[in-house]
Amino acid sequence: MPTGSERDTWALLEQHRDQTRSLQMRDLFAADPGRADRFSRNACGLHVDYSKQRITGETISLLMQLARTRALGEHIEAMFRGDRINVTEARAVLHTALRRLADEPLLLDGVDIMPAIEAVRVRMANLADKVRDGHWRGWQGAAITDIVHIGIGGSHLGPQMACEALRPLVTARLRMHFVSSVDGSEFARTLRTLAPATTLFIIASKSFATEETMTNAQSARSWFLASGAPPSAIAKHFVAVSSHIEAARAFGIEADHVFGLWDWVGGRFSLWSAIGLPVMIAIGPPAFRDLLAGARAMDGHFRQTPFEANLPVILALLDIWNVNCLGAGSHVMAPYNECLRRLPSYLQQLEMESNGKSVCSDGMPVAHQTSPMVWGETGIHGQHAYFQLLHQGTQFAPVDFIAAVAAADSLPGHQAILLANALAQAEALMRGKSATEVRLELSARGIAPEEIEAALPHRTFPGNRPSTFLLLDRIDPHRLGSLIALYEHKVFVEGVLWGINSFDQWGVELGKQLAGHILTELSGAPAAQTHDASTAALIARVREGLRSQ
Ligand code: F6P
Repeated sequence: MPTGSERDTWALLEQHRDQTRSLQMRDLFAADPGRADRFSRNACGLHVDYSKQRITGETISLLMQLARTRALGEHIEAMFRGDRINVTEARAVLHTALRRLADEPLLLDGVDIMPAIEAVRVRMANLADKVRDGHWRGWQGAAITDIVHIGIGGSHLGPQMACEALRPLVTARLRMHFVSSVDGSEFARTLRTLAPATTLFIIASKSFATEETMTNAQSARSWFLASGAPPSAIAKHFVAVSSHIEAARAFGIEADHVFGLWDWVGGRFSLWSAIGLPVMIAIGPPAFRDLLAGARAMDGHFRQTPFEANLPVILALLDIWNVNCLGAGSHVMAPYNECLRRLPSYLQQLEMESNGKSVCSDGMPVAHQTSPMVWGETGIHGQHAYFQLLHQGTQFAPVDFIAAVAAADSLPGHQAILLANALAQAEALMRGKSATEVRLELSARGIAPEEIEAALPHRTFPGNRPSTFLLLDRIDPHRLGSLIALYEHKVFVEGVLWGINSFDQWGVELGKQLAGHILTELSGAPAAQTHDASTAALIARVREGLRSQ
């Protein structure tokens, strides 16, 4: 339930929105040469320029006031302390503990959880080193050449995104594969490239019950045994990551090869746990520790920095402004770097599974819009696809441009072109192009006045479209860790301000339940429940089609 002062601040924000509705960012830049400096911050190797947001100094003051009326500082401490802030599951939220230094105790229910975390890290590093240097041998004595990570959602997106992002550091000795979809043709295609005797499967599932992952794991095991390997050979070719250690063992994986995680790690926050095992294998334990160190640096920044200079708080408040005051329904993630191509999907789960909620933590309906739809694709591709809508569409969508100055492995001239495009798109969205500018440009090209007037509506750009530019010197494990932790904490702050629990995901359950019923019906069982006419007809059609295959 919002407090009186919180309601007052929302009212002030709305009033401020109405008063500033006609402001144009290009005018604000012209009037204030210090605007870019005033609305840029550096922390943990990240430069964040949010001066191309539709804000003034007063906007920021009011947003900061909103954070204070929500007692944001207390919520931050409650999370780091291990309070059970995931109220619907009565769980602590301690992914931050996973990147904490081992010698800094952290008590949960009176027990220091750091020794258990460090023990898993050490076991992960042992395995990673053995696989990387060829000492981990398959059942026929050959070194491992291929790692196949099987998982979905939070047990897939983070490791895949990080392995892609850190591609230049990935050992050339190993090929990394990620299998997520239950679409069998996808997995079959991967299997065709593998030799059972040199393949190591990682089965990653916090619950060890997710249908897609379990189906793929069973198929991996059948494929492996079909090569003539005895069941005892599974020990050398399958490891698991799960909080359900018994279930992993029941699958046939040796206790020594099961890496645990805890109920206080949400799936979409689990990259830092043993779910990150393929990343550690790919880039090596020291670089994985750098990734943790980068996230830890952001944790420290988030916990200790005044809100006015606190990157996660600033980004969250800008989202609140765009969504709740300016009416943005979506948010675009546009990395200008092919290494970050899986980042939009990763952030989509992080933001939408966390904050796509309509009720507050106490079960009451929310008073405000919550998560926007988060989508995107690498910016350079987006320019030739969805950017048309961003520039001239009837809806506006704030954009996060994410770019690195240095390229790890590029060709002469390419990096400057890539970055010029990122900078140009952000500038174009902000500036737009007025009718006067179009007239001048076209008449300079000798185009007839009637033709110019006809072209005018199509060639003008409204501008004033907000974006934030996140610039890294380069992509390395430390900076990547900071970047991901920045978004994690941003999502948390938004959840606090909207009054929702960002750490459960009940909304994914209904579809899973119905899929279970429909699956039995597809195999010929009578309907366990009545369906609407559309679903019933589709089930009949699919069942028929499957039968005749
Ligand atoms: O269905 C959604 C979800 O529960 C996500 O929250 C989670 O990341 C994903 O499925 C995978 O879950 P698990 O790691 O238990 O297989």
